[in-house]
Amino acid sequence: MSRATCDARLPSITNSSNRYRMKDKPNIVVVGTGGTIAGRGTSAVDTSAYACSVLAIDEILSAIPEASSLANLSAEQLLQSGSENFNEQHLLMIGKRVSEVLKDDTVDGVILTHGTDTIEETAYFLHLTLKSVKPVVVVGSMRPPSAMSSDASLNLYDAIAVAIHPSSHGKGTLVVANEEIHSARDVTKTNSFKLEAFRSPYGALGYVTQGKPRYYRTPSRDHTVSTPWSIDDIEALPKVDVVYAYGALESELVRAIAADASGLVFAGTGNGNIAEHMVEPLREATRRGLHVVRASRTGSGVVIRNGAQPDDDYDWIVVDDQPPQKARILLMLAMLGNPDERRALQAAFYRF
Ligand code: DGL
Repeated sequence: MSRATCDARLPSITNSSNRYRMKDKPNIVVVGTGGTIAGRGTSAVDTSAYACSVLAIDEILSAIPEASSLANLSAEQLLQSGSENFNEQHLLMIGKRVSEVLKDDTVDGVILTHGTDTIEETAYFLHLTLKSVKPVVVVGSMRPPSAMSSDASLNLYDAIAVAIHPSSHGKGTLVVANEEIHSARDVTKTNSFKLEAFRSPYGALGYVTQGKPRYYRTPSRDHTVSTPWSIDDIEALPKVDVVYAYGALESELVRAIAADASGLVFAGTGNGNIAEHMVEPLREATRRGLHVVRASRTGSGVVIRNGAQPDDDYDWIVVDDQPPQKARILLMLAMLGNPDERRALQAAFYRF
């Protein structure tokens, strides 16, 4: 079957149900944005082919009555779209809304339901820009609720269990999937269809099982209240593009992209390698003011400064260990405070 069109326009909030004043259980707000967790197939065997972003957040929650024993839940539909459609406006809209909800003293935590394709980018953006120690958990599913062995209900139930628990405070934005709790900084989607799709290079922060989180690690890099960026103050983000390297990549393509951007994350081969014919176009763009960040297309590891390329001489930046799509998020934010200061931009990659 064909997938439903994912509508990524920016609607106003369609449903903001009753906030609760009684404090018998923690108060959690669940903000829906679409994705597979809001998807529906025509039969239970449709685990990978289905219409995405069709179930309202209320419908998703009503499928797990067990969740109401954990928390007082309030749901609102912020977006209804596949996350592959999300751009900077969507990031800002999501961030500002989550920030607003967190400021309500009666709210103990926020859950954001989200498509899994770009969950890591939105979660990392929130991790770097929210100014709160309250738990924020981003959750999706690899199979729609209608499919056999769907992970939708359990992932959402687990996300609530994580959001209500005191041990989740101050850990930054979390991503819950497949009974694991990941830091938004580290997690990436590493598989296109399996339930076990999410990995953090240094391991998950912990597990969540039987409605209880168990943490074994804490994030070591600065996040949320320790970063210089507040979502409340950000009105626009600079244009940063990603170029994926391959042997026959032509310099004209890079020149065209560079002409229109303020930053470029170059997903180089291996340790951020750059083909000989590509070096001069990138240096030329750097001299014109474009920030070039060397990343790796390998999917893991560290890009060593002055390793594969003389970054000091060329005035380039390296990602440390961030994959290109997350390096893009960090560069956009780092450029807000230091639009021209390359040393400060490099420092951001080692701090966050
Ligand atoms: N349309 C994709 C997205 O919203 C579906 C993937 C998913 O949610 O698992 O990211």
